[in-house]
Amino acid sequence: MAEYGAKRTIIKLENVVKFYGDNEVVKKLNLNIYESEFLTLLGPSGCGKTTTLRMIAGFEDVTEGSIYMEEKNVEGKPPYLRNVNTVFQSYALFPHMNVFNNVGFGLVEKKMKKAEIKEKVTQALTLVQLKGFEKRMPHQISGGQKQRVAIARAIVNNPKVLLLDEPLGALDLKLRKQMQLELKHLQKMLGITFVYVTHDQEEALTMSDRIAVMNAGILEQIGTAKEIYEKPKTKFVADFIGESNIFEAYINDMSGYEFDLVLECGRIHTKGNGFINEEMVYVSVRPESLKCSNDPVKNFELRGIVKEHVYIGSLIKTSIELSNGQQVKLNNLPDVDIPETGSLVYLYWKEDKAVIMHTREDILYDYIDEAKGNTEEIRLLQDSQET
Ligand SMILES: Nc1ncnc2c1ncn2[C@@H]1O[C@H](COP(=O)(O)OP(=O)(O)OP(=O)(O)O)[C@@H](O)[C@H]1O
Ligand SMILES: [Mg+2]
Repeated sequence: MAEYGAKRTIIKLENVVKFYGDNEVVKKLNLNIYESEFLTLLGPSGCGKTTTLRMIAGFEDVTEGSIYMEEKNVEGKPPYLRNVNTVFQSYALFPHMNVFNNVGFGLVEKKMKKAEIKEKVTQALTLVQLKGFEKRMPHQISGGQKQRVAIARAIVNNPKVLLLDEPLGALDLKLRKQMQLELKHLQKMLGITFVYVTHDQEEALTMSDRIAVMNAGILEQIGTAKEIYEKPKTKFVADFIGESNIFEAYINDMSGYEFDLVLECGRIHTKGNGFINEEMVYVSVRPESLKCSNDPVKNFELRGIVKEHVYIGSLIKTSIELSNGQQVKLNNLPDVDIPETGSLVYLYWKEDKAVIMHTREDILYDYIDEAKGNTEEIRLLQDSQET
């Protein structure tokens, strides 16, 4: 990713594997985390996000592979000697201590001078907008305020990296949204690296500079929200982030970069790079990129029957059924003329709006493993699809 080319790597995970008993919960994870970035680990429950964070923090050992912080291998280093701090979902404030003492606790432990503690705690509380709350006890403040105390406690030591494991999970939706913006703002202001864990894609898209999408212990893709949304590398990523129409197909009649995609009930002539003739693929097209017409469209042999329109204010969502029963979804602005329910329509899309993905695992995992150094090739491939 060119815009990150100049950034300094602060944490590097190299072929990290984690087994619990026979259960491999993190699989050959390669990840570079850059200084001052907001990186989110996103994926469904049980995919290995917390385990990854705990290995970075030093609460768990890696089974295989290495973790580097500022280029030094941290193997065997206890959590308090790593320049990271962790905020967990349950913020676990000390109930018998007021806000000031909760935030300053670690500094007292470090035997810092009183005046210095006061200065640092005040600064941290100001940053999370809780100045004036010093004397309150945890039971006298709201959930969102407690979470901010926990964050103040984590940043009071000036860590280089803050690890946050679903820190907003316990908050209601409105407060959560507000805290998302506050946290993002705080991260930019402090310039420290945030590694943030969530299973909420919207939260990830809102807050992150980059998102690392994990599935069953595998890092399937890492990139900006735009990259991941527009160019998902795998079916899982296409499905997990936003909505997508996914077609199974195989590649046929390849000639140079051009080939046909043979679907169960259609055929599309298109182009791409890096595919093999007769290879099985998935084709992903977002609902806003899928179009329909009353007349046949060049290079597309794909038809369906309009089943339903749903008006949701700013958008019309249309369902179309293909002859094999697959339902596809189209989103249109209300001012677009769309054929009536029951009519036969021809489906098409702009060539660069479809993403064609490998299904064969050997090809796929080579393809998604950035560490294998084939990212340049992938970029060329994507560029060739864009022209
Ligand atoms: N201490 C442990 N011993 C054994 N298995 C564990 C342990 N901790 C986690 N696991 C297993 O490892 C896998 C990954 O767990 P992890 O907590 O990393 O998931 P997660 O992505 O954080 O999920 P969630 O979104 O639910 O928090 C799960 O299958 C989990 O059951
Ligand atoms: Mg977790």
